[in-house]
Amino acid sequence: MNEYKRRWRVADLLLRIYHKIAGKLIQRDKRTTQMDNLIIRTAEEKDTHRCFQIESLCFEPSEAASLHKIQIRQQQYPDGFLIAEYNGSVIGMINSGATDKPDLADEEFKDMIGHDPGGKNLVIFSVAVIPEFQNKGISQKLMMAFLERAKDLDKRSVFLLCKSDLVTYYEKAGFNNCGESPSKHGGSSWWEMRLDL
Ligand SMILES: CC(C)(COP(=O)(O)OP(=O)(O)OC[C@H]1O[C@@H](n2cnc3c(N)ncnc32)[C@H](O)[C@@H]1OP(=O)(O)O)[C@@H](O)C(=O)NCCC(=O)NCCS
Repeated sequence: MNEYKRRWRVADLLLRIYHKIAGKLIQRDKRTTQMDNLIIRTAEEKDTHRCFQIESLCFEPSEAASLHKIQIRQQQYPDGFLIAEYNGSVIGMINSGATDKPDLADEEFKDMIGHDPGGKNLVIFSVAVIPEFQNKGISQKLMMAFLERAKDLDKRSVFLLCKSDLVTYYEKAGFNNCGESPSKHGGSSWWEMRLDL
């Protein structure tokens, strides 16, 4: 191999190494930026229409809460309503009501009938992240913030209903499966999940 070819090969190799390292640094920066721009905060009145959109995107029409339900949850219990905001846009949410007597099959409670802000238990109504942002750890962050908030509010337990395919998802978050619920919300079968704080 003549000197010219050898130098060309070394230069080519160095260029490939440079692109590989630069590519990794850009990927890492994208991940960091994404995390940095994610805010978890209490829902405000201005967020309710967007939260209703998210509810409608993430749930079947027979299961999704109406705009009215989302609005009264935000008005009556902002402490139990967290949203994930990315670059100024709401991309996920958790909302809930508080009670001393959790009855997960009670449809009226979804309208905040029987909600008592001083109640020792929180009942989660919706956990939702828009499809484009799913599987990026957003709901995990929302849930961690929600459970921290619940502890700060001196709550005892958190309850929710989920379908069978999400039982392991909630178990990963620390919930226990308490068995099938009598609820037939939206015509489906539901499992009762409970986490003691
Ligand atoms: C369920 C939902 C909230 C998950 O949100 P997400 O931000 O995509 O979840 P995350 O990225 O935080 O995932 C957290 C963990 O749960 C797992 N997970 C996510 N979605 C899952 C699913 N549908 N089934 C089982 N496991 C799931 C992830 O793999 C991850 O596990 P890991 O920590 O071992 O990697 C989201 O898919 C959604 O909004 N779905 C439609 C609405 C819905 O069904 N809500 C639940 C109502 S009970």
